[in-house]
Amino acid sequence: MSVDFYWRIGMEGDHASLREPRRYNRGEAQGIGPGNIAPAIRGGEPDDYAYIDHAAAVVRASERAGFVGGLLPSFPVTEDPWAFASALAPESDTYRFMVAFQPGFLHPVQAARMSATLQRATGGRLVYNIISGGGGRPQLWWGDKVDHDDRYARTSEFLDVLRGVWRGEPFHHDGRFYRTDGATLPSLLADQPFPEVYFSGSSGAAVAAAGRHADYYLSWLEPFADLRAKFDGVRAHSEKLGRTPKFAVRIDVVARHTEEAAWAEIEKGWAFVDRGAADRAAQGDSVGAARIAGWVPTTITGYRDLEVQPNVWCGFSLIRGGPAFGLVGSYEQVAERLDELRALGVDAFILAGNPHLEEAYRVGEEVLPLLRNSVPTDLRATALRAG
Ligand SMILES: Cc1cc2nc3c(=O)[nH]c(=O)nc-3n(C[C@H](O)[C@H](O)[C@H](O)COP(=O)(O)O)c2cc1C
Repeated sequence: MSVDFYWRIGMEGDHASLREPRRYNRGEAQGIGPGNIAPAIRGGEPDDYAYIDHAAAVVRASERAGFVGGLLPSFPVTEDPWAFASALAPESDTYRFMVAFQPGFLHPVQAARMSATLQRATGGRLVYNIISGGGGRPQLWWGDKVDHDDRYARTSEFLDVLRGVWRGEPFHHDGRFYRTDGATLPSLLADQPFPEVYFSGSSGAAVAAAGRHADYYLSWLEPFADLRAKFDGVRAHSEKLGRTPKFAVRIDVVARHTEEAAWAEIEKGWAFVDRGAADRAAQGDSVGAARIAGWVPTTITGYRDLEVQPNVWCGFSLIRGGPAFGLVGSYEQVAERLDELRALGVDAFILAGNPHLEEAYRVGEEVLPLLRNSVPTDLRATALRAG
C-alpha cells in the first residue's frame, strides 16, 4: 500500500540552512541582506520576489520530489494558511494543501463554505490539520481564554456542525459554542468531498476528540516505543467509538551522504543553540509539548546528548524553534528509521527540512527511493495515467 508523504511549507520565512538558523533570507520577511537572491536588490531597487513566490517554488520542488502535498502551519508569526492554499493551488493539479487551523477562531458554517469552495476550485485538494491550541501567550494573541479541555470540546462541536452543514440538509444546532438555524451549503458547493482530517494533541481531551473525528491521528516524532504506546492508546479509544484512525507523524530530517556529514550539519547549527527554548516551548498548557520537554535532558554537555535512540535527535527546537524531535543520519539510516516507523503503524508522514526548497529535493532524490516498506503515493503518475 502506498504511503502519503507531505512536505512542510514554511509559513514563517525560510532559513538559509540549519547552520544559520536565524537568517530568514528566503522571502522578504527580514528585509534584503547581503547575498540575498530571493528576493534581491536589482538595479538598486528590491525586486518584487515575495514570500509566496518562494512558497510556490517549494510546492513545485516538493511535488517533483515525490510529496503528495504540503502542510501549511498556523502560528501568530505565520501568514494565513487558507489564503496561502488558495494562492498556491494553481501551481499544481494534484498537490494537496494541508491547512492548519484552530476551529475556535472560525464559525463552522463559514469554514464549511470556505472549504467546499476550495474543494470545488482545486478538485478536492484541501486537507485539514485540526489544531486546538497550546495555551499560553499565543492563545491570548487570539483573545482566547477557553481552557485546555474546553478547547477540545469546542473543536469537537465545531467539526460536528461542519459535517452537519456539509451533509446537504438544512442543519439546526444550538450548542455550547455554536448555533445555526437551517444552515446548508449552496447547491453549487453540494457533493464536494469532505477534507481528510488530520488531528493532533496528546492530552486525554485530544485523544477523546480525535477518536471521534480523526482520519489521521497526527503526532510530533517521539522515541519510537513511546510513539507506539501513544498510538495504541488512541486506537483503543477510537475502537470504543467504532472507528479506526490512521496515524501520521511530522518529522524534521537532516539526511546526508554519510552519518558523519549529517551530524556535522547539526554541529554547525549547535553554534546557535538557545538552551531556554525547551522551557519556553513548554510554557503553555500543551500536554504534547510537556511530554516532549520531558525527554530533553536538563544537563547537556554536547549535541550528541540529545540523541535518544539511534538517529533520533531531540535538539531541533533548541536550534530553530518548533518541535524537538527529528531524524539525523545517512540517507540509508533515515530511510531505515522511516521504514521502522511505518512498521510500527505510521500511515502518513509530514517531513520537514531547512531550507525547505533544497531539502525537499534532497529527501526526494536521496531518501524516498531507499524506502522498503513505504512506497510514496505518486499522485502525478496516477493523474497522467488517467489522461
Ligand atoms: C504535527 C503537529 C502540528 C501542529 N501544528 C500546529 C500549528 O500549526 N499551529 C498551532 O498553533 N499548533 C500546532 N500544533 C499543536 C496542537 O494543535 C496542540 O495544540 C498541541 O498538541 C497541544 O495539545 P495537547 O495539550 O492535547 O497535547 C501541532 C501539533 C502537532 C502534533
